[in-house]
Amino acid sequence: MSNDPPHLPVIGNPSATSAAAPPASTERLDMTEQELEDGILRLKQEKNAVILAHYYQESEIQDLADFVGDSLQLSQAAAKTQADVIAFCGVHFMAETAKILNPTKVVVVPDLEAGCSLADGCPAPVFARWLEGYPGHTVVSYINCSAEVKALSDVICTSSNAVKIVKALADQKIVFAPDRYLGAFVKKQAGRDDIVLWQGTCIVHEAFSERRLLELMAKHPDAAVIAHPECHEGILRHAHHVASTSGLIKYAKESPKQTFIVATEAGILHKMQAEAPGKTLIAAPPEDESCSCNMCPHMRRNTLEKLYLCLRDLKPQVDVPEAIRVRALQPIQRMLEMSA
Ligand code: 13P
Ligand code: SF4
Repeated sequence: MSNDPPHLPVIGNPSATSAAAPPASTERLDMTEQELEDGILRLKQEKNAVILAHYYQESEIQDLADFVGDSLQLSQAAAKTQADVIAFCGVHFMAETAKILNPTKVVVVPDLEAGCSLADGCPAPVFARWLEGYPGHTVVSYINCSAEVKALSDVICTSSNAVKIVKALADQKIVFAPDRYLGAFVKKQAGRDDIVLWQGTCIVHEAFSERRLLELMAKHPDAAVIAHPECHEGILRHAHHVASTSGLIKYAKESPKQTFIVATEAGILHKMQAEAPGKTLIAAPPEDESCSCNMCPHMRRNTLEKLYLCLRDLKPQVDVPEAIRVRALQPIQRMLEMSA
């Protein structure tokens, strides 16, 4: 009998339900963008807060942040911050990871509903039952999963260290969750046909169109295609470079190429352009020309106004039940040690 995981509908943000905090304020502020920015900087000082932001955030949030990075860099920054408050501008699983690493600190998010299709498509009870079909396997989970799924895992990875971590487990049987495209990429890179994959996907990276990418490549024959490993095989097979968000920015900066077709969430273009001034960056297109499918609807829930409110009110906070936190911490620490 097949032990394939079911295809699970993603409704709302189930990954946020472990947080027992009150919802974000619905208050509307009558403030200009400049007033909001000044207010955020003032509140940051008053509360001894640090603002961590992912590359997929709106540019004005990235510009205010103390640190902008990929998932691994953000968890490393969260692990060593001295601040009392972490204002996490990203999605829920990222803030949850910061809380797991910093149980005594206050972790606030602009919007508690900012989830992730990968985390939400892998509910812990279903995952636990699925794992029963693979006794003796090492469970490698992509950081895009809930604290409960992390607590069921042996080691966490991100897109920047997944290949390295799987290669280091050469003598072990592995299940990899929840991203099947990253998993397939890792299998290829590590030369491991035997890895069992959970069948999750990212709604942004699965929407890129191979047909339209080929049209763009024909129009820009000198361009390098650079892609995040959450993209499906139809995109990855044309990529000159596949890497995490920080890896893609580094490549665009250091490559002698002048033009890049960028297959990941469009928020990355802000920092990429700053790091690679003068270069031409073209966002890879989704199949549906009329949609903004290359923007993560979860990441885009965060706004300057919500960031101001979460710093002012210190809510919504992300909390993780202690028993889950202690178990989830171990595979995260293992990842941080293996990535050092
Ligand atoms: P990175 O770790 O590469 O920043 O990716 C995070 C993510 O959610 C990609 O969709
Ligand atoms: Fe999740 Fe995809 Fe959004 Fe990243 S871009 S947070 S993987 S839904």
